Amino acid sequence: MEHADFRPVRESKTTITELMIPSYANFGGKVHGGILLSLMDKVAYACASKHAGTYCVTASIDSVDFLAPVEVGELVSMKASVNYVGHTSLVVGIRVASENVKTRVVKHTNTSYFTMVAFDDDHKPAKVPGLILETRDEVRRFVETMKRRELSKQNRKTVNSIKKPMQLESYNELLKTERCLVKTTGEHMG
Ligand SMILES: CC(C)(COP(=O)(O)OP(=O)(O)OC[C@H]1O[C@@H](n2cnc3c(N)ncnc32)[C@H](O)[C@@H]1OP(=O)(O)O)[C@@H](O)C(=O)NCCC(=O)NCCS
Repeated sequence: MEHADFRPVRESKTTITELMIPSYANFGGKVHGGILLSLMDKVAYACASKHAGTYCVTASIDSVDFLAPVEVGELVSMKASVNYVGHTSLVVGIRVASENVKTRVVKHTNTSYFTMVAFDDDHKPAKVPGLILETRDEVRRFVETMKRRELSKQNRKTVNSIKKPMQLESYNELLKTERCLVKTTGEHMG
């Protein structure tokens, strides 16, 4: 592959900052998780399409754990960078932080990984440029993502293997210490 097919991480780094306005609040007065997810999807798209030079779609999101609530009036910043590239997919890491402008306290609310797939003009997955890793952190993130992808693959296999139909008695055994009551009439489940 020619060097021209590679692009440095720094060229597609993207940050968005948005004020959390009252219409973003849920019934508890905090910001809806969905508002943050939508912003994360936008920044992931911006970062991925800058690297790929094409339109991209979101293929999957590797876990979103909200570590702290976000308040109306805070400034939320999302920092995105390409952590890994495959053939047609790329993984964008997003770090989300929320700042109270009066106290200047900054909370880290989550870090998530969006897998985006580049599309050509015929809406088919398109090859993305390789990644030039210029810092130790960039190398570490690339390798961590390789490992995370491997774990996800194994996890998917395990989940698929437990999706096979089971006798109800086997479920009863698994559920006996859980907080549920099985009220079926005993037919096979699948
Ligand atoms: C994502 C999508 C393009 C994958 O299609 P596909 O037929 O599985 O394509 P391929 O098998 O050629 O995979 C393309 C790449 O996506 C990756 N990929 C596919 N599904 C994935 C998933 N669930 N998670 C992570 N990566 C995935 C593959 O590993 C492959 O990566 P690589 O080329 O770097 O090796 C397709 O499922 C799609 O269009 N989904 C809808 C996406 C969308 O509309 N998102 C917006 C939300 S509404």
